[in-house]
Amino acid sequence: MSPTMFTFQSPLRLFLAMAFLLLGAVVVLGGSFAGSAGAVETSGSSVVTLGTGKAGQKLINQGVRFKAQSPATRKKLSSGRTRITATAGDAQVTGTAKVTLRGGITLKRGKRQFKLRGLVIKSKTKQTTVKGKLGGKLTTVAKVDGKSAVDPVAGTVEISKGKFSLAGKAIKKAKNKLKLKQAPKGTIGKMDLGVQAAFEDPYLAECGLEADTKTAGTLPAATPLPELNGAVSSAGNPITWGVKLSLRGYIAGIGKIVGLDGAVVNRLPFPGPPPTGFTFPDDAEYAANGSGSADDQAVLNGSGSILFCNAPHGFRIVLSNPTVVIDGDNSRLIADVDTNTTDLGTGISDWIPAQRIDFANLDTSSIVPETDVPGKQTWTGVPTSLTAAGAESLRLCEGNPGPCTYIDGAEFDPITVTVKTTG
Ligand code: HEM
Repeated sequence: MSPTMFTFQSPLRLFLAMAFLLLGAVVVLGGSFAGSAGAVETSGSSVVTLGTGKAGQKLINQGVRFKAQSPATRKKLSSGRTRITATAGDAQVTGTAKVTLRGGITLKRGKRQFKLRGLVIKSKTKQTTVKGKLGGKLTTVAKVDGKSAVDPVAGTVEISKGKFSLAGKAIKKAKNKLKLKQAPKGTIGKMDLGVQAAFEDPYLAECGLEADTKTAGTLPAATPLPELNGAVSSAGNPITWGVKLSLRGYIAGIGKIVGLDGAVVNRLPFPGPPPTGFTFPDDAEYAANGSGSADDQAVLNGSGSILFCNAPHGFRIVLSNPTVVIDGDNSRLIADVDTNTTDLGTGISDWIPAQRIDFANLDTSSIVPETDVPGKQTWTGVPTSLTAAGAESLRLCEGNPGPCTYIDGAEFDPITVTVKTTG
């Protein structure tokens, strides 16, 4: 795993990291990882340096000066150029980023003023526009040319040195309001933007572990499912798996294990814990592929989530929607893995949202499927082992103070897979 957190090159990130270092120190000193603040608010800002382009120069030459509307702030640079910084009040980052800024920008010429306020930035890869209030109406007032990096998983948007120009009615309005000889068409400044949308650990309610930072994962996506010829589809083929006995014991002893969205934690009647394993309800496909069972294929799509909550030690892992693939050497278990792990050095807990990966390999090479129960086929006790991506996804060796066995190829609990062979 190479989290993007520390490669996010913006002053905002630096500031955030410092703030979290401080927070982390407090948390570590306090001896508990389970904070109570909950959500992390939208952070970051837009920095517009005005007076830089040809049109910007012309504005300065005509006596235009740039001011900030509070709470935005202004820094005067040389030759009339001015830097206006406005923090983000609200941000939604999906495929497109929408950022509402606090404060605004005023262009001033003598006593004449042209105000850009109520600014909302909309950004999508190569297209960034700024809306604002003109004559009481919300309209496009500026555009920013240049690349915009929108990361919907991390909830971040970044623009570096975008060319900032007035747009639409704002051009004419600026000319009229400021009594300019020429309309301010073209680049009048440059914009840097670095914003992260508000977020909250999605399992805060269940696990009680907040997230200080959010980082997009970088693991390779699960390889595509095999296409089964003449497949028999059926409902009600539960996937039951224990994941790993020692992990269940560790988590259940210190934290807790929770089943969500239909996934069930199977508890021993007595004395328990640890729980015996988990059941995910599912639909399945099975293909016999002619005579003999060695080349039989099955795909079982499970649903629901199992939460390994260990707030007292500063981490949680959530495995969701497992898909079991029986397909010779490609037999495997795919799952969404979502983690929040605290760096024991800094106290920063970093949430990496779900990544759907090939989590564990299933070794069916020595398993002969059983067909004793009519209409069903069972692969009993299939050995499983962590894939490299699976090992990285868990992040169990990141904070673990002891020697860590959760590495590529680590043996996990065997799995017994039963699939219906008739619809
Ligand atoms: C992000 C932080 C941490 C991670 C990822 C982590 C991970 C792990 C892992 C993978 C194991 C072995 C589980 C197994 O037997 O399969 C383990 C065991 C253990 N950890 Fe942690 N740990 C973390 C923090 C801590 C902290 C802060 C403490 C102490 C305050 C702690 C105390 C222990 C103990 C005592 C065991 C042995 C449990 C047993 O064998 O029953 N861990 N941890």
